[in-house]
Amino acid sequence: MSEKAVLVTGGAGYIGSHTVIELLNTDQKVVVIDNLTNSSYEAIRRIETITEKKVIFYKVDILDKKALLEVFQRHEIWAVIHFAGLKAVGESSKIPLDYYYNNISGTISLLQAMKESNVNNIVFSSSATVYGDPTVIPIPETLPTGSTNPYGRTKQFIEHIIRDLCTAEGNWNAALLRYFNPAGAHPSGILGENPLGVPNNLMPFLAQVAIGKRECLSVFGNDYDTPDGTCIRDYINVVDLAKGHLAALNKMKDDPGCVEYNLGTGHGNTVLEMIHAFSKAVGHELPYKIVERRPGDVRNLTANPTKANKELHWKAEVGLDETCASLWNWQTKNLNGLEDCPGEAPAET
Ligand code: NAD
Ligand code: WQD
Repeated sequence: MSEKAVLVTGGAGYIGSHTVIELLNTDQKVVVIDNLTNSSYEAIRRIETITEKKVIFYKVDILDKKALLEVFQRHEIWAVIHFAGLKAVGESSKIPLDYYYNNISGTISLLQAMKESNVNNIVFSSSATVYGDPTVIPIPETLPTGSTNPYGRTKQFIEHIIRDLCTAEGNWNAALLRYFNPAGAHPSGILGENPLGVPNNLMPFLAQVAIGKRECLSVFGNDYDTPDGTCIRDYINVVDLAKGHLAALNKMKDDPGCVEYNLGTGHGNTVLEMIHAFSKAVGHELPYKIVERRPGDVRNLTANPTKANKELHWKAEVGLDETCASLWNWQTKNLNGLEDCPGEAPAET
């Protein structure tokens, strides 16, 4: 265990909060920052309930370099796990400047603050969306990148920025983690994804259909070249994904460098398979209808996770049934996510 802390940006969000739990459960020192634009301070309280540890939290925007520098001054940080960002693909085409500013300018502000504070290890939340419509399935990291939407391009550009920085400054280390489709919730049922408004993604939408909050799932197209005509994705359990970040930090200590890794299971499922898997967890079939394709969707995004398996000594372990059961457990215990929970973030903790 390092005596210095890991700074987690976006640590109140879905994947960040699960990662903070894994860091605390392995006795690592953690400092969390988040501007809470897409999350709630209640997530931090729930991390504390699950881990029985106090979370050091600052409500800070990564665009605010001065505030970042203060955090780096106050705490001895050795690495940053950088989750903070806007992530809705559809929205990114409507307000591209907001996405480029928040995600890219925010990351530059963070990297500058890191450089000025002599912190040169970063784990970055990239995405399978950087592969666009891939020509090889399962997808190896070596495939050329080429996103089809502004959100994806922010991920692609940030990867380039971090790689360029590592090339220029010989002592920087980075893990560019390309997540496939995160799903599920913490097994305690205390923490999970907390979509604000209508969920964009399949599994949270399906969970809201199951509790009667939404009438019916619209399946976006069944005329793709797949066994049942619906798109294939690689759904990875969020706790497995969180553990991938710890593996990346460990690797950085033993074997520095700047490397891309796919974090996925290596197994793809169609939308209809996911509906059936989640229906099994719920105990009855869920209503769905086939509608037009969603613009921008691609046929198949399935990871080849061999590089992460070998170099990070990490492997996705939780099966689909357990992932669906964890989502259902979380959804039934929190019908409105964290929306009903009161509580402003303290200015600092
Ligand atoms: P999330 O929205 O739940 O978490 C992101 C957090 O970042 C939120 O708590 C939000 O308030 C915070 N944030 C946003 N802009 C900020 C800023 N300027 N300063 C400080 N905090 C800010 O999303 P998530 O699903 O946990 O995703 C985490 C990261 O992983 C994101 O970068 C996302 O793009 C990436 N990613 C997510 C998925 C997915 O399907 N969930 C897949 C691939 C990659
Ligand atoms: C999964 C499948 C839809 C909703 C997105 C981002 C990606 C990454 C993960 C951040 C697709 C279908 C969905 C619905 C449906 N995020 N679907 N009805 O699009 O694979 O990936 O989240 O980096 O960048 O693009 O995930 O959950 O939206 O969709 O039929 O109501 O479910 O068409 O085939 P996607 P998703």
